[in-house]
Amino acid sequence: MHLAMIDDKILTIEELEPVYLDRGTFFGDGVYEVLRSYNGKIFAFEDHLNRFENSLSAIGITSVKIDQIRKRVQTAFDSAGIANAKIYFHITRGSAPRNHTYESSLKPNFFLTVTEIPDDTEEKAKGIAVSTYPDLRWKRCDIKSLNLLANVLARTDAAQKDCAEAILVNESGFITEGASSAFFAIFGKILCTAPLTTNILPSITRKYVIQTAKNIGLEIVEKSITPEQAKDADELFIAVTTKDIVPIVKFDNRIIRIGKPVKYTKLLMKEYLLLTK
Ligand code: PDD
Repeated sequence: MHLAMIDDKILTIEELEPVYLDRGTFFGDGVYEVLRSYNGKIFAFEDHLNRFENSLSAIGITSVKIDQIRKRVQTAFDSAGIANAKIYFHITRGSAPRNHTYESSLKPNFFLTVTEIPDDTEEKAKGIAVSTYPDLRWKRCDIKSLNLLANVLARTDAAQKDCAEAILVNESGFITEGASSAFFAIFGKILCTAPLTTNILPSITRKYVIQTAKNIGLEIVEKSITPEQAKDADELFIAVTTKDIVPIVKFDNRIIRIGKPVKYTKLLMKEYLLLTK
């Protein structure tokens, strides 16, 4: 590589900041995590670190020590002084001139942000509308990878339809998950969600929703459903770290039952919050 150009400026390779050569940018070659705090306490910290460790190992980044990540996250969170914070961090394989293969000696790049989580009481009280979109993602959605183009396209389509989330539907016609959330349906006293396979992210919120659902006496069935079945559900909701449980009241323009958050979803929302205390 002899020269580089950033917008209209030509630079020599020596002048180029390494951030421009990040493999995260060239290839999406990295993994990330999103955690949150409730009232000054990080929720499910170890779950997120474990999942991060699994993601790193799945893409062969072996030189990162999880203890160091734990310390960095805690330090950044303490410095921010935000009670209800969203903590985003990623690690990419490192910076090097663009080449699909890489030297094992590359130094991984770490990046983190802490932001305040906006109040979503109103959204949760009213419930959200969602729309379906083809699941165009790769076959290892269990890895929390930086390759999120399919998720971005899905969310853009949903936003254009005034929907808060895109619900992804695979080639066999079954719902996998939301573009950035886990998806749940309730039929009577049965809580239905897709099983954990390589086709979905092992959502941390999903794990705690299932625990909460058991506590309130719901039966859990880990099975994928179709959009038509979803429209006939008694209750629908999504679950994600940054918002915990959000009721769905409209699915592909079909109003779900009375069009308001009801019984079990409301109870789950209440009980889930007890876990975060
Ligand atoms: N997204 N499924 C997908 C595809 C996701 O991207 C996410 C989270 C979830 C929920 O996972 P968890 O309960 O662990 O947050 C499910 C994060 C928040 C994001 O990309 O911003």
